[in-house]
Amino acid sequence: MKIIHSVAELRRQVMSWRAAGERVALVPTMGNLHVGHLQLVEAACCNADRVVVSIFVNPMQFSDASGNGGDFEHYPRTFDADCAKLAAADVVFSPTVDAVYPNGLDAETRVEVPGISDILCGEYRPGHFVGVATIVAKLFNMVQPDVALFGEKDFQQLLVIRRFVADLCFPVKIIGVPTHREADGLAMSSRNQYLSRDERRHASILYQTLQSAQQQLIAGERDPAVIRSRAFVQLEAAGFRPEYVEVRRKQDLRIAKESDAAEELVIIAAAWLGRARLIDNISIPLRGID
Ligand code: PAF
Repeated sequence: MKIIHSVAELRRQVMSWRAAGERVALVPTMGNLHVGHLQLVEAACCNADRVVVSIFVNPMQFSDASGNGGDFEHYPRTFDADCAKLAAADVVFSPTVDAVYPNGLDAETRVEVPGISDILCGEYRPGHFVGVATIVAKLFNMVQPDVALFGEKDFQQLLVIRRFVADLCFPVKIIGVPTHREADGLAMSSRNQYLSRDERRHASILYQTLQSAQQQLIAGERDPAVIRSRAFVQLEAAGFRPEYVEVRRKQDLRIAKESDAAEELVIIAAAWLGRARLIDNISIPLRGID
């Protein structure tokens, strides 16, 4: 595995692979890698001849409820440990902030996906998805991959990326990889390490709440307000501060209608536990229950 910081060197490397007729996969990350990321890398290896993992803590996507920089300063940076986990990748690409945003963050051209960026997480983190879409578009142009892989835990992010890729005609196939969970069901996330030992014991209640909402949908409950208020009660009783729990259409995250089939829906949630903001989602597969 080779570590590359400069775009020019990365392009030379990718061009030489292409000249040999090899397909290239990109796994974009912000580092602090866990088993969920390594599963993306494994899936990348199955979908291409060469795998680039980018590690870039993207300042443009950090935004809290007041539009400030969120936890950017304190986001865990573990570059050496991350590289040690990436033996299966061909290249770790880690550009500097100046190389990515040469005009400074505020003056930079942006990618905005209307409709889907301002709802759910976008409502609580203004500007977040513009930051995500912008960095992912830049990485696509820097790496020029054939395929790129993203975790389904960040369901809204995955839809935002699919949308701008389609709208802006990027020749990249987007693959969503199922959420990797701890033994108790908690979705793996770099932010889980913000949980205290006691909070960690309760954290899987977020997933349990989604599972119980899923059961309600399967049993025929179609009133999102009922599902939402039961979920809030369950979460608040466990010490969470829920932002939202919503039943939405999987395809575009629009509000679900009573006539929508359960299989077309996703239950999506964000809730704070201590200083960790946890997100998760669950859907109903065509042949039964997750
Ligand atoms: O999911 C993430 O880790 C980030 O949002 C991404 C896709 C790497 C963009 O910075």
